[in-house]
Amino acid sequence: MARAGEDARVKRRLLPLSALVAALSLGCGSLGQPDAPTVRTTPRPPPAAPDFPTDYVRWTQAPEPVQDERAGEQRRHYASPDARPDRGGWPTGTVLVKVHAPLDAPDVVTRVDVRRKTGEGDLGGWTYESFDPATRARIAADAEGCHLCHAAAPEDGTFTVFR
Ligand code: HEC
Repeated sequence: MARAGEDARVKRRLLPLSALVAALSLGCGSLGQPDAPTVRTTPRPPPAAPDFPTDYVRWTQAPEPVQDERAGEQRRHYASPDARPDRGGWPTGTVLVKVHAPLDAPDVVTRVDVRRKTGEGDLGGWTYESFDPATRARIAADAEGCHLCHAAAPEDGTFTVFR
């Protein structure tokens, strides 16, 4: 008998909870099937890469931006201040930049591509990277794909003439 009494007490204690659950599901009923719970997370931007070429707009700019009608973009090219091609090669430490912008909004840079001359590695002594200009974070780049195309360029893998 003592057990039955305990059970009854447990049930009494649970009653308000089940009433609450019933009320909640009634409320949701008017909205149809309850959706999966929404998890709110504050989007955190990816961290800025320490080697984003912050100052490139003040570097030597190639005289002619490329107007690429097919891609619908303009590309501008910059060379770091100490970068001067010498006997067909660029000195170690050279940083070259290519920025992409829509043809109809050339001030809105959408992507920053960077070649750095390290004199090391399998890609002709250059590294190839891409950055998101808004967050300055590195974005995925197929460095070997970059190199395959650049390897055909006349001056140490470089297409742009900065003079
Ligand atoms: C299909 C060929 C091709 C591929 C792939 C390519 N580029 Fe280029 N890149 C060019 C050409 C052509 C230019 C010069 C004119 C232009 O922008 O069209 C150039 C210019 C550059 C420049 C300016 C200096 C220079 O070498 O002329 C940089 C920096 C650069 N690219 C980085 C990259 C990076 C990083 C990647 C890969 C994410 C990449 N490129 C992929 C063709 C390519």
